[in-house]
Amino acid sequence: MVLVPLLRGCVQLLTLPIHVLAFLGVWDPLCKTTFPYFMSRFARLYNQKLHKEKQQLFSNLADFAGASEPLSLLEIGAGSGANFQFYPPGCRITCTDPNPNFEQYLLKSEAESKHLHFEDFLVASGENLHQVADSSVDVVVATLVLCSVSNVQAVLKEVLRVLRPGGAFYFLEHVAGDRSSWIYFWQQIYDPTWKYIGDGCSLVKETWKDLEHAKFSKLNLQHINAPFNWTPTRPHIIGYAVK
Ligand SMILES: C[S@@+](CC[C@H](N)C(=O)[O-])C[C@H]1O[C@@H](n2cnc3c(N)ncnc32)[C@H](O)[C@@H]1O
Repeated sequence: MVLVPLLRGCVQLLTLPIHVLAFLGVWDPLCKTTFPYFMSRFARLYNQKLHKEKQQLFSNLADFAGASEPLSLLEIGAGSGANFQFYPPGCRITCTDPNPNFEQYLLKSEAESKHLHFEDFLVASGENLHQVADSSVDVVVATLVLCSVSNVQAVLKEVLRVLRPGGAFYFLEHVAGDRSSWIYFWQQIYDPTWKYIGDGCSLVKETWKDLEHAKFSKLNLQHINAPFNWTPTRPHIIGYAVK
């Protein structure tokens, strides 16, 4: 359809300074420095809006504690630590994020989460978790992360490697809308600009397909609409997959 490239071009024209800064190599370092601040504020709003969904999602986390109780949990792309309040008391947590500028926000959330035991913060991308041993964790969590990674399948392969057999991967992600929907139409138009504003975040990933094709033994996945009317991040998937 010719309308999509035309409108995409209009959006790019309206946001030309961003594209010029990106072309000059200035945007990425600027975004890496400022994004954690904006994300830490957005995470509070997101938690308010999706409080019930997150509470329900994480309600059975403790069921996955292995013989080595308490539960060991690895959060990838942990950002500012928005999920800590939903984790069960005593949980042993390692956080990873490729952007070290998140650490100051993460430390603040850790200080507010006295019910958890924090073990480590690793500067690492989800595609390469080599600091984490094979079959060493009960649970891996990723929320609003797979939209930003460059290779979802590589991340899921790493998740499967570090999970102990019977461990679970919990996810909550915004995804592409149905291909025949208006939301998908607008997602395609905003996507190239959104990637710069959202530090690599893509609006058009059909992440559920990657989860379906990954080698989990069980997949519990639901499509939901987040309560963000008129935003291109409305379609979400939520659930967990068992190794
Ligand atoms: C939208 S934020 C979400 C942060 C947090 N998980 C939350 O729910 O508030 C996306 C996060 O994914 C991280 N990220 C980006 N690329 C990544 C990758 N390849 N592997 C792991 N995390 C990544 C970003 O640095 C950022 O912390």
